[in-house]
Amino acid sequence: MKKIIIKGGAKLHGSINISGSKNACLPILAATLLIEEKVTLHNVPLVRDILTMVSLLESLGKSIKIKKNILEIKSQKKKNFFAKYDLVKTMRAGILVIGPLLAKLNKAKVSLPGGCAIGARPVDIHLDFLSKKGYQNKIINGYVVSKKKKLRKQLSYLFKKISVGATETAILNSCLSNSEVRLKNIAIEPEVFDLINFLISAGANIKSTSKRTLLIKGVNNLQGTEYNIMPDRIEAGTYMIASIITKSKIILNNIFPDHIKNIIKVLKNGGIKFKFISDSSLKIFPNKPKPLKIKTVPYPGFPTDMQAQLMSLLTLTKGSSEITEDIFENRFLHVLELQRMGATIEIQNNKAKITGVESLSGAEVMATDLRASVCLVLAGLVAKGETVINRIYHLERGYENLVGKLKKCGAKIKIIDA
Ligand code: UD1
Repeated sequence: MKKIIIKGGAKLHGSINISGSKNACLPILAATLLIEEKVTLHNVPLVRDILTMVSLLESLGKSIKIKKNILEIKSQKKKNFFAKYDLVKTMRAGILVIGPLLAKLNKAKVSLPGGCAIGARPVDIHLDFLSKKGYQNKIINGYVVSKKKKLRKQLSYLFKKISVGATETAILNSCLSNSEVRLKNIAIEPEVFDLINFLISAGANIKSTSKRTLLIKGVNNLQGTEYNIMPDRIEAGTYMIASIITKSKIILNNIFPDHIKNIIKVLKNGGIKFKFISDSSLKIFPNKPKPLKIKTVPYPGFPTDMQAQLMSLLTLTKGSSEITEDIFENRFLHVLELQRMGATIEIQNNKAKITGVESLSGAEVMATDLRASVCLVLAGLVAKGETVINRIYHLERGYENLVGKLKKCGAKIKIIDA
């Protein structure tokens, strides 16, 4: 079992290159199922979830070459419509293959997904869209089994709740078809627009008609394309917190300023200063942080994927802070572990009340989900003594070379295989 060991207290210096976005790359990989010709993707983060999606696509009829952070994806003659449990169980994004499989092959059998243990995370909205579009869906032995019934030529679909994944499923299913689909109340996370831009580069006809509305006119064919995955805004936000919590000035490279405005705004309210030193580089000036009251909401609000990291910072911020988690119902699993390190946090339903303490102390802790794991790393960077983080496979699902990047900046961090 691999563990991360951190000796807290080291200052960070220098710069960190932000990798490509995992959450943008996953639906884009699923979208390659719609394309017969060669697709080349650049700036692909080589993290476990991406490698799982690569294996899933290979099982469905793609051949994929990985050269550093570039993926070359070609089609094999033999196609498959069966996404096995083994390949989908660790990663919720596995469900994203259902939309393209149905668009291409008119049938799909996809395991119900796994992923982080942060709530019930159903797929009812994905399936509701597909059934309104004209597919029949049944849940049989843990699989969604879907097939074409009578497809609608025109559909206006209103999402009952904003969902990133369900928006992506609807887009993935609609662009290669003989139909016109209007999607209302869509998720407008930058990753959704990276998927749209990728599909447009392959010849899709997708128009944004108002803030949360898309019009997709199906086309007969999508062609091969070459595309650069957007930078990971959550990774950037995570290293912002690493800089602030360790009171170190570091520079982040390969960022897209517009995507991280929401995170910067919250941290500025918390007294932190930032300077863009180029179009894609940001310097962080970690003044004394002030307490914050925030709520996680869909983009452009503060992201749920940054909640745990912000909480680590607030445990050491003098005064009382409050975080309301409004996206996932069970996303405070890290609280118990932070408490073991000396944090003062009280949970009331979906609210966490945090009272800043002078210092945290190193402890042996357990990573429970992707972002919860990284919040323990952040806490470990400043905790007194040694922090040992178990179950780090969660971290490997979503952060490219986290330990290497922090080490290069001076953190006393290592991975051991014990
Ligand atoms: C994506 C991100 C994840 C992020 C989340 C919210 C990927 C691979 N993952 O997850 O990192 O935390 O967006 O920004 O991109 N819901 C339903 N029924 C559905 C679908 C969703 O009730 O069919 C609920 C979920 O349980 C949750 C909320 O809707 O409470 C939002 O989930 P959603 O936006 O779909 O998240 P994911 O796409 O799973």
